[in-house]
Amino acid sequence: MQRKGEFALLSVIYCTLALLYLKSNYLHFETPSPCGCGHCIQERNDSWFSDRFNSSYHPIMSTNSSVLSKNTEKWWKNVQRSRTEGNYSEVVEKLFQLIPDQEYYRDRSPHRCRVCSVVGNSGNLKNSHYGLLIDASDLVLRINKGPTKGFEKNVGSKTTHRIIYPESAVDVDNSTHLVLFPFKTLDLEWLISVFTTHHITKTYTRVMSTIKADVNMVMVVNPTFMNYVHYVWLKKHGGYPSTGFMTVVLALHICDQVRVFGFGADRHGNWDHYFEKTPQNYKTGRHGGSFEYNTIKELNDRNIIEMYRGW
Ligand code: C5P
Repeated sequence: MQRKGEFALLSVIYCTLALLYLKSNYLHFETPSPCGCGHCIQERNDSWFSDRFNSSYHPIMSTNSSVLSKNTEKWWKNVQRSRTEGNYSEVVEKLFQLIPDQEYYRDRSPHRCRVCSVVGNSGNLKNSHYGLLIDASDLVLRINKGPTKGFEKNVGSKTTHRIIYPESAVDVDNSTHLVLFPFKTLDLEWLISVFTTHHITKTYTRVMSTIKADVNMVMVVNPTFMNYVHYVWLKKHGGYPSTGFMTVVLALHICDQVRVFGFGADRHGNWDHYFEKTPQNYKTGRHGGSFEYNTIKELNDRNIIEMYRGW
């Protein structure tokens, strides 16, 4: 009886040692990295970040994700009221007969390493010499009218995505995605119009009635995503988020590593631009300029993004 007990005990000890040996030498139970870069945004173990980042929000709209909740609809329709716009769902239906109805950027995998640069238009890009660094990224997202021609040394020349709204639109070449942030239904109608009838020439100001861009590369940001940025990221600071700030959050959702350039007002709170010789006195208007800037800085300080502030 005693011998049997000793045998059982020895067997347990032997099996445990064998398992420990196998585990340390051959079995690796590590969870695979969510992306193929050295470090990935999605694996950040940071409670401040996980309180804000919610991967269930997809930035780019498709037919499947176009329906707005009552709350989102209420917020969005108050951002920029317009008296001349059509029915949202009818306009969306028409829109996706024109532009691709695709589920973009749902391709995250342990083999993907997508490095993105978001280039804002701040005057802090002057003499920055960031051009080569920006162009070395897989995706380069530029905002509104921010030009590259003549500014290559500081801002680079590659543009994979041009982020606009009707009143800030520019022509793009056929290697660039035109990405619309719609602030009202009329903006979606404008997008249809620039590729078809060209009849919309005015919103609250004059807008381009035609645009040079490949219609098959056009994307529209989902108002639900914009609402998420306003409530979750900006905690309702400002009337609604700036296009630049929303682009930073968009990049967090579609990229594995994010670099941010050209953000930050001057010391008087003016949104100066790298392409203006004499800074204009643009204020941050309805946007929560300093809250946005501090949030981007926080992302940098927590090593979630890399923020380049110029010199
Ligand atoms: O001036 P504009 O709106 O075209 O600039 C694009 C974006 O760059 C803004 O939406 C803002 O987020 C950012 N910006 C900034 N500081 C500046 C100028 C622009 O953060 N001085």
